[in-house]
Amino acid sequence: MTHNIVLIPGDGIGPEVAEAAQRVLGATGVRIDWDRVECSEKVIRETGESIPTPVVKAIERHKLALKGPVTTPIGGGYQSVNVALRKKFDLYSNVRPVKTMPNLITRFSDVSLDMVIFRENTEDLYSGIEHEVVNDVVTSLKVITRRASLRIAEAAFTYTHRFGRKKVTSVHKANIMKLADGLFLRCCREVAAHYPEIKYNELIVDNAAMQLVAKPEQFDVLLMPNLYGDIMSDLAAGLVGGLGVVPGANIGDHHAVFEAVHGSAPDIAGRGIANPTALLLSSVMMLRHLLELSAADRLQNAIEMVYKDAKFLTADVGGNATTNQFADAVISHLA
Ligand code: NAI
Repeated sequence: MTHNIVLIPGDGIGPEVAEAAQRVLGATGVRIDWDRVECSEKVIRETGESIPTPVVKAIERHKLALKGPVTTPIGGGYQSVNVALRKKFDLYSNVRPVKTMPNLITRFSDVSLDMVIFRENTEDLYSGIEHEVVNDVVTSLKVITRRASLRIAEAAFTYTHRFGRKKVTSVHKANIMKLADGLFLRCCREVAAHYPEIKYNELIVDNAAMQLVAKPEQFDVLLMPNLYGDIMSDLAAGLVGGLGVVPGANIGDHHAVFEAVHGSAPDIAGRGIANPTALLLSSVMMLRHLLELSAADRLQNAIEMVYKDAKFLTADVGGNATTNQFADAVISHLA
């Protein structure tokens, strides 16, 4: 069977890691018909659309995309294309597995981590509802709804159950935001009650941040509203070697976009030295989503073998290989 998948290379290091992922996926033997569409800072500025129409049409048609990062201006300019995509296709589950790579030396190499972060992806402070009340006074609305909280909690518990994980930890600040985070927590508890075999606990976000650094091995599945999830997942990425090694997926009921956690990395773009691991591991998640389970396992193993050998690692994880050399090493392990 051939899968039709949208490829959005993005900009910055996006096209470099996307090309590597496309080559590696080709070597898995899974048949993919790519529909490549441009979505970059340049195209967005030229067209004036927060998501260029060909991108919307392609995702509507094929339902599935592999995406590189896209640059977003800070403190002004157009809306983030990522936020726009998540809203447009109602990709409410942001799933970020954080796993220690074999042999990879980090400040936390003495512990082996394997956790998955579920971040609500459509509301909270990312609702983008901001208002200048009077000059120099701005409000930004944090929106939490029962519907969105219940479905992200359900996604986290379903995943925990399906993959035989043991514990879900909800992260909140309901001691201060009693109504908003209070509602989020009530929804998590409601869903938790349907899964008595799964251990459930709750942590206030500031304590959770400290615990993540002090005792990260205690975590299994983490469940959070949008903003805490965004921050904590980058923190968790730092525990296992940085943004270059952590994958992600944005999943809704009808569409899914698989993408790395990292951005367009303008500081290293165009030099061919970006680490493609994050997008490759996102590709593993995509293969599982497509039920190409054996190819997913083979690709995961091949990536881990490259870390075990430690001969073709990129600079961000202590090596001096290029993006293409890393990809070639993965391909040779697949063979
Ligand atoms: P960033 O993730 O692009 O870079 C942070 C640091 O990590 C940089 O030092 C970079 O060189 C390094 N890094 C990131 N990915 C790497 C990789 N694969 N290999 C080696 N090193 C890597 O974050 P930053 O600088 O905050 O954002 C840059 C731009 O990317 C911004 O315009 C931001 O809005 C956008 N962005 C886009 C995302 C997306 O499209 N999904 C996600 C996050 C940021």
